Formats: sequence, structure tokens, C-alpha cells
Amino acid sequence: MDESMGDSLLGRMRSALNYLMRPIGFEVVRTHRWDEPRTYIPFKPTLAGAKKAGLSVGDYIDKTHNVLGTTQETMDQMQKLGVFEHTIDRVCEIGPGSGRYLEKTLTYCRPSHYEIYETAQDWAQWLIRQYPVVLRPTDGNSLSATQSASIDLLQAHKVFSVTPFLTTMRYLAECVRVLRPGGKLVFDLITDECMDDPALERWMATGPLAGTFPSVVSRQYAIRFFSTRGFRLDGEFRVAYMPGTSNYFVFTKF
Ligand SMILES: C[S@@+](CC[C@H](N)C(=O)[O-])C[C@H]1O[C@@H](n2cnc3c(N)ncnc32)[C@H](O)[C@@H]1O
Repeated sequence: MDESMGDSLLGRMRSALNYLMRPIGFEVVRTHRWDEPRTYIPFKPTLAGAKKAGLSVGDYIDKTHNVLGTTQETMDQMQKLGVFEHTIDRVCEIGPGSGRYLEKTLTYCRPSHYEIYETAQDWAQWLIRQYPVVLRPTDGNSLSATQSASIDLLQAHKVFSVTPFLTTMRYLAECVRVLRPGGKLVFDLITDECMDDPALERWMATGPLAGTFPSVVSRQYAIRFFSTRGFRLDGEFRVAYMPGTSNYFVFTKF
């Protein structure tokens, strides 16, 4: 049985159990699977939690999983580094999750086309109902539905901290292919420099994380990868990624 069959079988069992338990007011919900990077935080409880807290989904996720205000701080830094200085008509985002960056990006640059690659189907289906975005067939490694040199802004937030090294590098190579000259690339990595001794202690003290998270890529390696492929580094900044930080990179393709 492959993974997706296993997941859909579990999903059907959960639905059947919930059908039986509804009269007594109980519901079984999936918790976050740290061993499966292609999933995201549980869909229904997150929406319900945000509603109960009277917060937007993005603010609720910031507050419960990170530090409130980090999403906005990231957008401010992107703006400072000139990401929105020129016309952005076509945007591609990898792993938007709840869409907390997507929602803000739509107000910063009003693109005519916004496409997403997202492996968490529940969130992906919700995003295409909530926002004017196109969901691309997502094989989890490539941007195969996107034409070469067609994208003005490509972004991925907190994605390459969950993906294994080769998946990250395959996606980064795809970013090189699909960005047009002058296009902007924004992504973050938990780099070796984010993992100093105190940060490492805090990460090691976290609960029973399994799988690839948090995936670490060397900062110099990432910079060299793009500088040898026709990209200019416009700037970097660090933001909270609890219990540590991640390093953002803003590049322009020339
Ligand atoms: C830590 S979450 C970050 C979500 C969102 N970008 C944010 O910052 O709120 C990682 C996201 O990447 C998605 N993801 C994981 N592996 C992926 C892959 N191989 N291709 C595309 N999306 C992936 C997950 O489903 C999830 O939405």
C-alpha cells in the first residue's frame, strides 16, 4: 500500500468513526505528523481555533506556532529589500500552507496570476476557494506545470525547513528555471548559522520531532548555488522560527 492510499484509508476510517461519535459530541482529528513533511498543521482544528480566538488564520498560526507579527515583519523586510519595487504580474509560491503570506502578497502587488504548489490537499483545496490562485499539480519536487522564464516573484516560506535536502535543491533548481530575468526569489532556510549552540540546545529540547524537520542547509552553500547560476543576492534577514530562527534570502535573477 503506498502512502497516499494509507492516508486516504485512515481518512475514511476517521470519517466513519466521527459519524458514529457525532451523537455523543466527540470528534477524532488528525494531529500534526512530524514524520510526514508533505502534510501541514491540522486543517479543521486550526480554522476552528482561529475563529474561537477571533484572529485571522495567519495571526492565529503566528501566535500559536511562532511569534505574533512574524509574518508581517517578513513582508516588511521583503518590501525594504525591493521585492515589490517593480511590477509583479505572475507569482508562484511553493508550500503556502494556510496562505498567510499569499494573502498579504496579493495586497502588496496585485498580480494577474498567482499559482501555488502545495502537497497538503485539505489546505490546497481551501486556498483555491478563498483566494484567486491556481493550484498546480504538485509532485513534491518540481514546478513542472510552470513555463521557463515566466515568473516575476517566486516565494517559499518555512518550506525548506521541512523538506529533505534533495527535494529542497530540486525546487531551488526549478526556481532558477522558472524565474524571468529581473524576477525576484524569496525563501528562507534554517542555515548552519541559525543553529548555533544555544539554538541547537533549544531545538534538542523540543518534543519528539521525527523525520526531516528541522532540515538545515549551509548559508554559504545556498548563496553559492545562486551566485553561480546568474542570481544577485539583494539581502538577507533573520526571523523567529521557534524555538530558533530562519534566514531569509532575497535574490534577483539577471
Ligand atoms: C512549515 S509549513 C509552512 C506553510 C506556510 N508557507 C507558512 O509559512 O505558513 C510547510 C508547507 O510546505 C508544504 N510542503 C511540504 N513538502 C512540500 C513539497 N514537497 N512540495 C510542496 N509543498 C510542500 C506543507 O504542506 C506546508 O504547507
